[in-house]
Amino acid sequence: MKPQDIITGKSSLWVFGYGSLVWKPDFKYKRSKVGYIQGYKRRFWHGDNYHRGNNETPGRVVTLIEEEDACTWGVAFEVAGSQLEESLKYLNVRETVCGGYLTQFVEFIPRGEAQSPIQALVYIATADNPIYLGPASTEEIAAQISVCKGKTGHNIEYLLRLADFMRHSCPDVDDPHLFSIEAACLAIIRPILLAAQQPVFA
Ligand code: SIN
Repeated sequence: MKPQDIITGKSSLWVFGYGSLVWKPDFKYKRSKVGYIQGYKRRFWHGDNYHRGNNETPGRVVTLIEEEDACTWGVAFEVAGSQLEESLKYLNVRETVCGGYLTQFVEFIPRGEAQSPIQALVYIATADNPIYLGPASTEEIAAQISVCKGKTGHNIEYLLRLADFMRHSCPDVDDPHLFSIEAACLAIIRPILLAAQQPVFA
């Protein structure tokens, strides 16, 4: 769906973020709510040759994989009125043109509110995308993330900030995939950081 087709006839739109959007929206919005969507699990299975990697060493970023009993926590942002055109154009470049994600609508359930689900736009990368990487072991994913870097920063930053968001904004929610990759990545980089702190001449 093109940005213009998404916003036609709408005075406001919710966008659900579950990756870098949760800690770096960088677009104009009216308000945001933490919550979840059902029927999808979050996985570091999409490749990134722009923001967090390049063609030689693509980074690993998250996408959503359909799974009946799964749910994924994140943040939904309401974009309204005059914000719509500018924000959707920005997201189209960031997520679709540079990131390879496609758009779809999902039901977002705000945390702790007895209210109806909200229809929200979400960016999802599928297995037929040329930069999709697919499943790998926790150790392989962590090893790849620990060395990749793209135009907006290191792949480690993407991982650690997402894990931080889950710890601080969704403290009761476990996310074994995310937290096991974070632990494996820290195990790789910690010795390197410690060695860098040692004086050269002991
Ligand atoms: C993205 O939204 O996936 C790209 C932005 C980033 O990695 O900082």
